[in-house]
Amino acid sequence: MKRLIIGVTGATGTIYGWRLMEMLRSEGDTEIHLVMSQSAGLTLKMECDIDRDYIYSLAHEVHQPGNIGASISSGSFHSEGMVVAPCSIKTMSNIAMGNTGDLISRAADVVMKERRKLVVAIRETPLHLGHLENLTRLARIGAVIFPPVPAFYNRPKTLEDIVDQSCMRMLDQFGITVDTAPRWGERDGVPAVGQTLESIKGKA
Ligand SMILES: Cc1cc2nc3c(=O)[nH]c(=O)nc-3n(C[C@H](O)[C@H](O)[C@H](O)COP(=O)(O)O)c2cc1C
Repeated sequence: MKRLIIGVTGATGTIYGWRLMEMLRSEGDTEIHLVMSQSAGLTLKMECDIDRDYIYSLAHEVHQPGNIGASISSGSFHSEGMVVAPCSIKTMSNIAMGNTGDLISRAADVVMKERRKLVVAIRETPLHLGHLENLTRLARIGAVIFPPVPAFYNRPKTLEDIVDQSCMRMLDQFGITVDTAPRWGERDGVPAVGQTLESIKGKA
């Protein structure tokens, strides 16, 4: 079984964290290690009708954000890597600077030092230069910067369509395939590039 660490922070969009876990559960081949910050508990309450117990129940193991001695804080713990979704500016900056005083930033730092994959679903807008500089630093040291920006070519109808498409693309980063959204050119209703050009030419 593969292992993936999911970090959920207090940026808006807690739904990204729990949809990722629901998708991994339906895929069924990945052990989920969850660490959720205190602020994420607050945003969850404000944004969602589900509670923390439900989110915890999706993980195979839940680690407390202050437990710096948890398994995931060591490089000897094997995993495919980590997704932080949603990722706050605070946690992103901590990871970029190597401030590893809590378990989310420590686990993320460990994943990078072991040359495993870290995907950071940063959630803030607009961004000032300080944010951009920290994101640049994080990209330089190996993280994948993955703002959950919606795609519209697949004609999303619901909030879930939008969220699921981003989550699917995050899991793609780990070679975990969950087809929860149409992929460009691969399904009915999503034209291949050639078809699109043909239909444009036809109308011209
Ligand atoms: C409703 C709500 C929405 C928030 N949205 C964001 C956000 O989108 N991005 C962000 O960086 N911080 C956001 N914050 C602020 C973070 O929760 C705050 O900076 C917190 O200290 C982050 O801590 P953490 O990274 O340990 O979870 C939001 C706070 C609340 C209450």
